[in-house]
Amino acid sequence: MKAVVLGSGGWGTALALVLCDNGHNVTLWSHNPAKAARMQETRENPLLKGVPLPEALRITGDLDCLEGAELVVCASPSFAVRETGKKAAPYLTPQTVLVTVSKGIERDTNLRMSQILQETVQYKCKVAALSGPSHAEEVGLRLPTGCVSACPDRAAARFVQDAFMNDCFRIYTSYDIIGVELAAALKNVIALSCGICSGLGFQDNTKALLMTRAMAEITRLGEQLGGTRRTFGGLAGMGDLIVTCTSMHSRNNRAGILIGQGKGVKEAMEEVGAVVEGYYAAESIHQLAERENIEMPISHCAYEILYQGKKPKDVVLELMTRAKKDELLETTWL
Ligand SMILES: NC(=O)c1ccc[n+]([C@@H]2O[C@H](COP(=O)([O-])OP(=O)(O)OC[C@H]3O[C@@H](n4cnc5c(N)ncnc54)[C@H](O)[C@@H]3O)[C@@H](O)[C@H]2O)c1
Repeated sequence: MKAVVLGSGGWGTALALVLCDNGHNVTLWSHNPAKAARMQETRENPLLKGVPLPEALRITGDLDCLEGAELVVCASPSFAVRETGKKAAPYLTPQTVLVTVSKGIERDTNLRMSQILQETVQYKCKVAALSGPSHAEEVGLRLPTGCVSACPDRAAARFVQDAFMNDCFRIYTSYDIIGVELAAALKNVIALSCGICSGLGFQDNTKALLMTRAMAEITRLGEQLGGTRRTFGGLAGMGDLIVTCTSMHSRNNRAGILIGQGKGVKEAMEEVGAVVEGYYAAESIHQLAERENIEMPISHCAYEILYQGKKPKDVVLELMTRAKKDELLETTWL
């Protein structure tokens, strides 16, 4: 099958390798032609150190590579998904399956990535989302990993499953693209918050408390926006929350640690040196939670630290001294 991966960052490159391993005819497109030429020559992506790129993988900055592609993967950072979708649109046909693997919510519109892509391609083809606990560095090393291919169209979800699945990359299908995409975007803010806890010197108890209560609030918002509750306990939800909150591969976690240690927000993001999607998602979540009238105390506190200059220590005290609650809000006592 002819497949094109748009975006030659760590994740786009790792997914291109999976598709190559599975015997597909794969092209990796970079928006930066000089970078494409360098990778084509060195057969390496500096973001995936020690992982050679196979000769069969073509790397280019030319969008003509999209001609006739059956599978197109959009692996741009979330802020560039609309731009990438617009560039790709003229090449896509109703037979193409377009897959978003970016984790975020668009600033200003608060749209999910698949919604942006559907808009840019004018609903011409099927759009699926692939998400789950999956660090590019580990997928590049072919370490066992699992993700979810989500699309309301079952055949498209299965098409993506078939394209990517192999003995070290296990793919489940789901109809719940809303839940899968929201879980992926919302958890980045929690990874940042978890990092802040580590930076403040808090340990395992605090992080477990934060992750569990964060999952409760993410699920509340996700359900309100049309996601299925069980998705948030699955790979794209709890799975991805665990992996981003506990790993130094996560930029959100790393940025949070620096902020917890006392660095300014801008300074921390510069030091991480790559897109910290949780920073942008925090603003969208704040707006969505207000619009939908959903209580999201942890995400709200992250917003106060990131956008309103509140001190992490003060915010933690605020969270710990909130009014007493039942854990299971939805249930009644027997
Ligand atoms: N890295 C991972 O392990 C991982 C895993 C799952 C999902 N994701 C998601 O995949 C997306 C991409 O992440 P990544 O880690 O590959 O990012 P990255 O930071 O490694 O790479 C981003 C790439 O985007 C390119 N880029 C910058 N501006 C652009 C523009 N205007 N148009 C098109 N491309 C542009 C950069 O050149 C770079 O190659 C993100 O949404 C991320 O959340 C990443």
